[in-house]
Amino acid sequence: MKAEILMSGISQLVTAEGAGPKHGRTMRKLRIVEQAAIGMSAGVIVWTGRESEWKGEAETIIDVGGRAVVPGLIDPHTHAVWAGDRLADFEARTSGSTYEEILAAGGGIRSTIRATAAASQNDLVAQAKPRIDALIASGATTIEVKSGYGFTPEAELAMLEAIQSLSAVSAARIMPTLLIHIPPAVSSERSSYMSRVCEELIPEVARRNLATAVDIFVEREAWQVGEAEALFHRAKEYGLAIKLHSDQFHCIGGVELGIDFGALSVDHLEASGSEEIAKIASSSTIATILPGVSLHLGIPSSPGRKLIDAGAAVAIGTDLNPGSSPLFSTSEALALSVRLNGLTVEEALVAGTVNAACALGINNAGRLETGCVADCVVLQSSDWRDLVYTLGTNAVRDVWIGGKNAR
Ligand code: NIG
Ligand code: FE
Repeated sequence: MKAEILMSGISQLVTAEGAGPKHGRTMRKLRIVEQAAIGMSAGVIVWTGRESEWKGEAETIIDVGGRAVVPGLIDPHTHAVWAGDRLADFEARTSGSTYEEILAAGGGIRSTIRATAAASQNDLVAQAKPRIDALIASGATTIEVKSGYGFTPEAELAMLEAIQSLSAVSAARIMPTLLIHIPPAVSSERSSYMSRVCEELIPEVARRNLATAVDIFVEREAWQVGEAEALFHRAKEYGLAIKLHSDQFHCIGGVELGIDFGALSVDHLEASGSEEIAKIASSSTIATILPGVSLHLGIPSSPGRKLIDAGAAVAIGTDLNPGSSPLFSTSEALALSVRLNGLTVEEALVAGTVNAACALGINNAGRLETGCVADCVVLQSSDWRDLVYTLGTNAVRDVWIGGKNAR
């Protein structure tokens, strides 16, 4: 056995095993190898095991000095490209206005759309780059980035182009999603907007390979189930995967629709009740929870514990965005899920690695196993649990992406 790189001196190598989502109790199952090493070649893991059992030859040996190593984290839900800020909303909320009231009054997401429309594509990329770098520094190696701050199909296309440029300058693997976020303010324009999305935007996005999935915000103040259904029919026709923002404030049928369409994930779920939980648990759709939103908006936390106990596969994202989750750390999202959503430390790691990969339709990442991409996180600590224990400082020392140190 030959390897370009042998990472040695690993106190604990910690990983979920086997491709595919981990549901229910299997979310607690981790493989922990002590005094371990990882062989990497051409950006892929070629060997893992106890260091004493490595009998091969390595061109370069990287000794991590007795630190724990976990799979590269995967952030399956961000809105990392935006312009402007939401500091006025934040201040208004501290004086009692709610997120939904601000949105209904034409602020909130609509104000970010106005600011984003006024920025050039270069500006959007320049502003997003340090956000992505912050996520990488916190352990993220694959990051989903959504469009959604456009008032027109052209503006959504421009956002996806900005995400493509961001991907070219970023060390992380960027997964672009077309988000149909907020309907036109004038209700008579909703159906013509959705027609343009379905007839013009989706075919163009698919033709230019600008997104791997479509997402839609299904909510009282946003799109309704029937409108989302039209979008999903079209997305399927063009081979795009499906995701949803659902049950953030109210359950209006988004979860059921998503599951009927075989969505990769249903995200948010803060308002989900026992019916929605049971539906998700008996499906192959991933439940992506976003604890930063509950912390920042003070809304209920999504029922992570109940979802897992019912048998669902849960993933965790930062939902990094200026309005509902200014959380620039993927590892902190894992840490928050333990405090706010009732996950165990093992479940949090599985939710932030292999299950998050599945929420993006990826099956060769989020695990430290032969054949997977060589993405891993070297912690400061010799004990991997520090990753989800630590709050407010970075538990991550090095971040390896595709066999290269990216930090
Ligand atoms: O995931 N709720 C819908 N969309 C985003 C927030 C976007 C924003 O407030 O700018 C979310 O919470
Ligand atoms: Fe979101």
